[in-house]
Amino acid sequence: MSRQTRTATAVARSNIALAKYWGKAKVTENIPVVPSLSMTLEELVTVTEVQFDASFPTDELWLDGRRGTPREAGRVVRLLDRVRQMTGTSEHAKVVSRNEFPTAAGLASSASGFAALAAAASAAAGAPLAPTSLSALARRSSASAARSIFGGFVALDGGVDQSSDLSAVEVAPRESWNVRLIVALTSRGQKEVGSTEAMTRSRDTSPLYATWVAEAPRLFEAVVSGVKSRDLERVGSAMEESTLCFHACAMTSRPSVLYWRPGTVAGLHTVRQLRAAGTGAWATMDAGPHVKVLCEACDAETVRARLAETEGVLDVVVASPGRGVRIADR
Ligand code: DP6
Repeated sequence: MSRQTRTATAVARSNIALAKYWGKAKVTENIPVVPSLSMTLEELVTVTEVQFDASFPTDELWLDGRRGTPREAGRVVRLLDRVRQMTGTSEHAKVVSRNEFPTAAGLASSASGFAALAAAASAAAGAPLAPTSLSALARRSSASAARSIFGGFVALDGGVDQSSDLSAVEVAPRESWNVRLIVALTSRGQKEVGSTEAMTRSRDTSPLYATWVAEAPRLFEAVVSGVKSRDLERVGSAMEESTLCFHACAMTSRPSVLYWRPGTVAGLHTVRQLRAAGTGAWATMDAGPHVKVLCEACDAETVRARLAETEGVLDVVVASPGRGVRIADR
């Protein structure tokens, strides 16, 4: 057997959902229960190198210079196993991944991580995939990662009728809409409950879960049509409804999942004040305490400055519509 090393490096960007995914229709295949739409973020980059080698005794994961935890490594190995199965190889791999985010902690995401891993692993194994297949591969590890395969504004369908090869699709290119997402960091710590676990808890215990599942498609449709027509107010108001509805669902789970910090609430009030003063700005929060504010590019500096002076906001990052995943030149 050849001892040749096979290596590929992929560059992927994180994304933030404007219409949220929360909850799974099929847990084993990781099919979301609701459709979602995200914006890929140019400035939030993950670079992942995968090296297959017949001499490696086991898979090995390095994340931002440290050894991956057993839990992190387990998710990575499951993706590598799928690639091995696809390509008929039994070689182990070394995976080295780093987040090149403007501010280190708090923004690292499974979305850019698994998008980069899917692209690098399949290329290194000698079976580079078309974007649609790559998106389905990434989605099995983390549904938000399916969206980071594509640039601009990206939709991922959901519901019990979806097939096991469900993938994301670009809805509008990045050049089509000159908006910014201003990310206000309100905590440096790791989130207490991971999104996968919190979704299960929401489904099993929240009295609001059925309402969320019933409402989300309407909010998704409003966001899709607003993105296509570049209607910030339409997108913004549906986006805020989507985030508040899924957070209400998480908060009313038992035990309650409360991602918000004082800075989250302060940030939401800043956004309301900006709107009252005539600046078009709308907020969204993911499974964490940070506040992400959507606005026109021309208002980005006003919004950034107001968030930076908000109590409880530790740092602010301005992100623009980004590119999809790519294999780096060697
Ligand atoms: C709140 O994609 O991290 O950010 O599929 O279990 O890995 P898994 O979940 P993940 O969930 C993202 C949830 C969210 C909303 C969103 O990105 O749509």
